[in-house]
Amino acid sequence: MNDKYTLSTEKLNAIRTSVDIVSIIGAYIPLTAKGKNFFGVCPFHDDHSPSMSVNKERQIYKCFSCGAGGNVFTFVRDYENISFLEAVKKVAEKAGIALSMNLLENNSNSKYTRYYDMYDIACKFYKNNLYTEEGKDAISYLENRKITNEVRKEFEIGLSLKNSHLLTGLFLKKDFSKEEMIANGLAFVKEGELRDLYFNRIMFPLFDLTGKVIGFSARIYRSMDASKYINTKETSVFKKGELLYHYHKAKNIARSKDQIIVVEGFMDVIRLFTIGIENTVAAMGTAVTKEQLLLIKKMGREIILLFDGDAAGRNAAYKTSSELIKMGIYPKIVVLEEELDPDEYILKYGKERMEYKLSHPMNAMDFKLQFLKEGKDISSPLDKANYITSVIGELNQITDPILREATLLKISEETDFDVNIIRSKLSDTKEIPITKEYKKKKASSLKVNRYEEAERRLIFYMLNHEEIIKRYQRDVQFLSTERYRLLAKEINYFYEEHGYIKEADFINVLVEEKDLMQTLHEIMSLSLKDDYQKEEIEEYIATIYEYKIVNQINYLKNEQKNTIDQEKKKKLGDQILELTIQLQKKEIWEDL
Ligand code: UTP
Ligand code: MN
Repeated sequence: MNDKYTLSTEKLNAIRTSVDIVSIIGAYIPLTAKGKNFFGVCPFHDDHSPSMSVNKERQIYKCFSCGAGGNVFTFVRDYENISFLEAVKKVAEKAGIALSMNLLENNSNSKYTRYYDMYDIACKFYKNNLYTEEGKDAISYLENRKITNEVRKEFEIGLSLKNSHLLTGLFLKKDFSKEEMIANGLAFVKEGELRDLYFNRIMFPLFDLTGKVIGFSARIYRSMDASKYINTKETSVFKKGELLYHYHKAKNIARSKDQIIVVEGFMDVIRLFTIGIENTVAAMGTAVTKEQLLLIKKMGREIILLFDGDAAGRNAAYKTSSELIKMGIYPKIVVLEEELDPDEYILKYGKERMEYKLSHPMNAMDFKLQFLKEGKDISSPLDKANYITSVIGELNQITDPILREATLLKISEETDFDVNIIRSKLSDTKEIPITKEYKKKKASSLKVNRYEEAERRLIFYMLNHEEIIKRYQRDVQFLSTERYRLLAKEINYFYEEHGYIKEADFINVLVEEKDLMQTLHEIMSLSLKDDYQKEEIEEYIATIYEYKIVNQINYLKNEQKNTIDQEKKKKLGDQILELTIQLQKKEIWEDL
């Protein structure tokens, strides 16, 4: 399994042991020591209280709420949204081990290499087109919009020409197939003829979270009779709802400022760049998705929503704030006057005024209350009642009791309405809202029967104790539940090959095995003590053995049902009886 990587398991382990997971994770999220473990707010789901524990001894982390878990490499990989090997390199750097880059390149995502190649070729092609005769118009359009050469370079802006056979022609020469071009969203067939999907438009490349071009947004610039932007359709790689424009560049800047500015359009990102503001991302016109919110949340503690000043923009800011508040995050909101978008605002009022706006945002609650009050006349009883009802809905979302009370008082004062009446309408929010995934997870973990529980507990201890692996090899050898059986096999294999076991290292060999990794997470998040009692191990082994017999009996019963051979039926019956007796005598495991 390891030959997928140019780094051997030994090297990976050496890197891993030269860092401490507590200090690496602690650099991303604040950790508090509690007993043997460290705890922090999990960055991988909308966490409210610290559900992530980092175990110094085992050098792993796990989240009790969303089930995330792994070693230092998987944490960095998932936090930074980079590949496993990039994460290894990052960790190695922190450990002062410089890895030669070519050891790491060209390994990841080989499945999509051709996709990336095509978009890379297309991007370069479009950029060059700006310097053709036809490009002059486009450049003057861009210059008109104050998009200078420097900005064009930064955002890799290009141009598709009028002739709609140029890119497809280039691809054909480079041996890309027609089907590939269509599937990857760069060409289409019209009247039996293969054509470039984009022509006669300014091309804005869209990047994935690591900075690879995976799509385009193409803007009209001289005709007026078509939709303003054409975007790449959803492909196997391009998933708009999982991306944020400019994420790959904004990420580090946002983190060091501990602040991230969210805008609606990529033109806004580009304009903000021209005034030196780079901790920005755009959701690109659609409602901000859950995936995008989780990304935003990880970028910085202060989240500023700088949406368009029109009704649609204010609406979107309201909705996005609500979503963030549900995740326990209170964003700040900047409302722009005259219904301007950030791009227009900067062009009209300049850098200083935008900077001022950004340093004087509204807090989320004030914004929401103002939004709800918009167009209402509080002196009219009906409007007042409507307002108070909608505010109660807001108050119910607030989990922080102090903020809740403060908002309550404010509303009561503002509307001159008895605070106790409003309070009596509030629901009890002591309980933290449980996410759907969490509920699902809980439900499925309840479905594990007592036999499966014994299997996974045994594996739990196999992960850190070689004597339990030996015990497994001697006395168990087989688990009835397939996913546990496969995992146990991998653990044995690891132990045989390396002569030791440590789950933090074992994780590395599973990074590309989605199902096994999930099973491993499931087991790692069991709330068991790190050290086992001898008796419990005996009990697990006995239960597992019992399970084997139960399954065997079921198998034989089934055989018996399906056979017409009377002799065989009888023989099977005897066997079943014998096994049943064995089951009833609890001593079955003593003669193991
Ligand atoms: P806007 O209409 O606010 O675009 O849409 P904009 O940023 O002001 O662009 P300019 O200034 O007119 O050039 C915001 C976002 O919605 C998406 C784009 O991603 C854009 O950045 N959008 C908009 C589309 O996908 N298609 C459209 O036709 C319009
Ligand atoms: Mn605009």
